[in-house]
Amino acid sequence: MSFPQNRLRRLRANETLRRMVRETRLSRDDLILPLFVVEGQGIREEVVSMPGVHRFSVDQVTEEARRVADLGLPGVILFGIPGEKDARGSGADASNGAVQRAVEAIKKATPELCVITDVCLCEYTDHGHCGLIEEGEVVNDASLERLALTALSHARAGADMVAPSDMMDGRVAAIRHGLDTHGFDSLPIMSYAAKHFSAFYGPFRDAAESAPQSGDRSSYQMDPANRREALREMQADLEEGADILMVKPALSCLDILSDARSRFDVPLAAYQVSGEYSMIHAAAQNGWLDGERAMWEALLAIKRAGADIILTYAAAEIAAAIKD
Ligand code: PBG
Repeated sequence: MSFPQNRLRRLRANETLRRMVRETRLSRDDLILPLFVVEGQGIREEVVSMPGVHRFSVDQVTEEARRVADLGLPGVILFGIPGEKDARGSGADASNGAVQRAVEAIKKATPELCVITDVCLCEYTDHGHCGLIEEGEVVNDASLERLALTALSHARAGADMVAPSDMMDGRVAAIRHGLDTHGFDSLPIMSYAAKHFSAFYGPFRDAAESAPQSGDRSSYQMDPANRREALREMQADLEEGADILMVKPALSCLDILSDARSRFDVPLAAYQVSGEYSMIHAAAQNGWLDGERAMWEALLAIKRAGADIILTYAAAEIAAAIKD
């Protein structure tokens, strides 16, 4: 059938019709809010490059988690910023670290909330890399034990899920083994499986103080030019025991999300990263676009491409908008 019998505008005539034929819907259930936890007391400071995003001390993040749960969001993912850093990232698996204490406090105050922890060394190492450094190189195998111990410390604190973001080869297997041999065989792993070496992480590094002090992350994060390799990364993590596969960044990887959706039958997550969030807010602050609509459209596209779960700094504002 073609024009004039066929008129695609017929089903766009009013909002009721558009509602009836809408193919993709955002729900509060889709969204996970990232939270930054710092040492100290009574701290709630806005991240300059991320309007509306704060760094919280443990007491404050517990209150924020309450607000998040009341908005109907299913979960949060925690990032820790330690007081002190060293070459091995000793703070990453410290039982009294900010993340470990935050997990404990949030689970106590808000047991219904799924508390996920980011597992990486970059916030904890003085060199800012996601693995250990030997002779100027970020070494793979020697980093795995540190990562597995970090995940284990989160599990012991009561985390509901761990999310390795370091991009070392074999980290999912190492973490799975570490968890299984210590009684955490039921704890799911959401792996940052296809994680590109991206400029869109810029604002996050201000928030987490995790910029590499020398060099960059291109020897372990994926080349953004590569699509087939992303599927190999995801396949590898699946075989090593990942329960949920993540693609990151989100908006610049919709092709990969779509490929992954047709290839894998596990839940897929997408991370709308700091730069994706901040550029929409920055443009909105300048009056260059409607921030709320742009954010909604970006998240809808991520879901349409195949994401079941979206990690986004806009989770609370979107949940509030959906509630109204
Ligand atoms: C830690 C980590 C990063 C992000 C999530 N986990 C930073 C990085 O890899 O440099 C980025 C998140 C964001 O930009 O919002 N490895």
